Amino acid sequence: MNALIALTPGDGIGPEVVAEARRTLEAIGDRFQHQFKFTEHLLGGCAIDAHGTALPADTLAGCRAADAILLGAVGGPKWDDPQAKVRPEQGLLAIRKELGLYANLRPVCPHPALAKLSPLKPERVAGVDIMVIRELTGGLYFGTPKGREQTPEGERAVDTMVYTEGEIRRIVRLAFEIATKRRKLVTSVDKANVLETSRLWRKVAIEVGREFPGVKLEHQLVDSCAMRLITHASQFDVIVTENMFGDILTDEAAVLAGSLGLLPSASLGEGRRGLYEPIHGSAPDIAGKGMANPTGTILSAALLLRHSLGLEAEARCIEAAVACALDDGEFTADLGAVRPLSTTQMGDAIRERLDPARRVPTGSRSLD
Ligand code: IPM
Ligand code: MG
Repeated sequence: MNALIALTPGDGIGPEVVAEARRTLEAIGDRFQHQFKFTEHLLGGCAIDAHGTALPADTLAGCRAADAILLGAVGGPKWDDPQAKVRPEQGLLAIRKELGLYANLRPVCPHPALAKLSPLKPERVAGVDIMVIRELTGGLYFGTPKGREQTPEGERAVDTMVYTEGEIRRIVRLAFEIATKRRKLVTSVDKANVLETSRLWRKVAIEVGREFPGVKLEHQLVDSCAMRLITHASQFDVIVTENMFGDILTDEAAVLAGSLGLLPSASLGEGRRGLYEPIHGSAPDIAGKGMANPTGTILSAALLLRHSLGLEAEARCIEAAVACALDDGEFTADLGAVRPLSTTQMGDAIRERLDPARRVPTGSRSLD
């Protein structure tokens, strides 16, 4: 296969972790005889510095031309001024919207070797295997009116939560499709006791649920879902929710895995082209030190192979190598190692274990 992959390393530790994911994709290309070509583009704070905008036109064009996009992280204290007109995060939001990437998949499947890193008791983390599906191009993030104005009583700010039936239907349908290949339970998360958008969400979820008689649908209010993620996380299979709730719940769910550095994500739309990124941020405090954990980005590259290129065996090869490296105690600093591996050493440890014949070891489920 020939594939064109656009890299947007971004800010902070982004370039370091993306470099390891690129090397890993190249190693997969060698082992499985694929030609992966890479282009590199500015997105986020680095793009603001170079061009005054977080998503320059040539970055967007480069991403549109590619089969898939791999992103590092955007943002940092340098661009954090609340008065700033341009912000790195705008680049991320704009690319999601421009490419129609309405579905954000965030699998949370803690590795048994890391159970002790979770602040929760091991028995609360055991058996957790959740796919969180977050709506990504609607809701409070994009609704209008949005803005600030002066009033005689002082400043006033407004954000708008808005959803159409169509936006809800397509994301909930995707959740059901994914659940049919998993444990056949969809938890639709809303705040239907307060919000009108949530009452529409719930109605549409019930309608979509009728199309999938083999999948159980349950509804949960977002506040109690936040609690249940800590107390009974292993009860969840697929969680589907709106943009802002999903943003918050996925950071919470990431804690179950022990480190933010481990978790990948995929943002998908109607076509095959998707955007893949670790769920961690730019970690400015450790940027440039070569100590960031590249695992979340390498696992994002596995999701890229699976969802945009249709290369399932190759994706599993990476996931098995990661599981094996963790089983063997190959840890970066965030995983509490006494003698931590550097970013590149961790990347090497994973690449050394890329073996097409290797299966995801027993005890660790596929990270799909
Ligand atoms: C995420 C991030 C982004 C979001 C920020 C950086 C805009 O928190 O991908 O979860 O809120 O969507
Ligand atoms: Mg977030």
